[in-house]
Amino acid sequence: MNITFCCADTRPEPWLEGLRAALPGATVSEWQVGAPQADHAVVWSPPQQFLDEQPGLKGLFNIGAGVDALLRLRLPPGVEVVRLDDAGMSVQMAEYVCHAVIRHFREFDGYEADMARGRWSFRKPRMRAEFPVGVMGLGVLGQRVARALRHFEFPVHGWSRTPKAVADVVCHAGAQGLDEFLASCRVLVNLLPLTPDTRDILNRRTLSRLQPGGYVINVARGAHLVDDDLLALLDSGHLAGATLDVFRTEPLPKEHVFWQHPKITLTPHTSARTLREESIAQIAGKIRALERGEPIAGVVDRVRGY
Ligand code: NAP
Ligand code: GLV
Repeated sequence: MNITFCCADTRPEPWLEGLRAALPGATVSEWQVGAPQADHAVVWSPPQQFLDEQPGLKGLFNIGAGVDALLRLRLPPGVEVVRLDDAGMSVQMAEYVCHAVIRHFREFDGYEADMARGRWSFRKPRMRAEFPVGVMGLGVLGQRVARALRHFEFPVHGWSRTPKAVADVVCHAGAQGLDEFLASCRVLVNLLPLTPDTRDILNRRTLSRLQPGGYVINVARGAHLVDDDLLALLDSGHLAGATLDVFRTEPLPKEHVFWQHPKITLTPHTSARTLREESIAQIAGKIRALERGEPIAGVVDRVRGY
């Protein structure tokens, strides 16, 4: 069995060694132009030429959860596109989102500024009941985040394409459930995949429906958010702030207004990183299952887009 590795911005050696150790007997190599046909590929943002030269792939394993960049390419028709299915990402996402929500709710930025100025002063405690959190996307990451937020006793709402039941989370579904979901939330966490249906979904219309003093946490994709609409609602005071991990252009261009905005906290697309060992173990297990003709989890529906 031949495995080819073609991942942008990723040091190949540790992945190649890990895949060889996990799949003894397989030939694992980094893709080069003109390389022989492989059975399976491990990829992140591969060039179109790679896919054009590998028409007989059985499995195309993305080393991330989001497959939006991959689905923009022309793919071999019969290949199974497989996303990372948690592989250590959901706990990181839960940490990140809970940190952002709690930092805002408990006004830790304000306390930090006060302490830096030598000011010992208290703020009035805020009521959790007044900070309902909405999680857009109740998939692998969204459900974990919703559960983690419930642990801190925030009221939590969730929104997905198809109806879901998550303990202690008020679940809304479909386009018809969106406005009610938004109106129920003061803090909005975006964990949707980027698809034609979800592009630009965080816009003036939707964000205006959040409760006054709303707060936006975007940890999915930059193209979900209409930047100027966020800025306008922050300036009008309808939104109190935002934590953004993902951007339309990454790295975020030096001249972008987000960098200096006093109500925006930025991180460099790091909320849930791909963990190499967990990912290799998961991908190797799925390659073995596919080779045995068994079904696997995490196969992307190319029409749905996730
Ligand atoms: P997932 O398991 O595929 O879950 C996607 C969720 O979104 C599902 O609940 C799905 O609904 C819902 N959804 C999709 N289209 C929708 C629509 N049109 N309307 C309403 N709900 C819709 O994905 P995941 O593993 O949780 O990952 C989510 C995204 O997080 C990824 O696609 C990626 O973009 C992003 N991500 C970011 C980072 C980072 O570091 N910033 C890391 C990992 C992932 P159904 O349940 O009904 O299908
Ligand atoms: C990261 O953004 C991922 O999709 O895994």
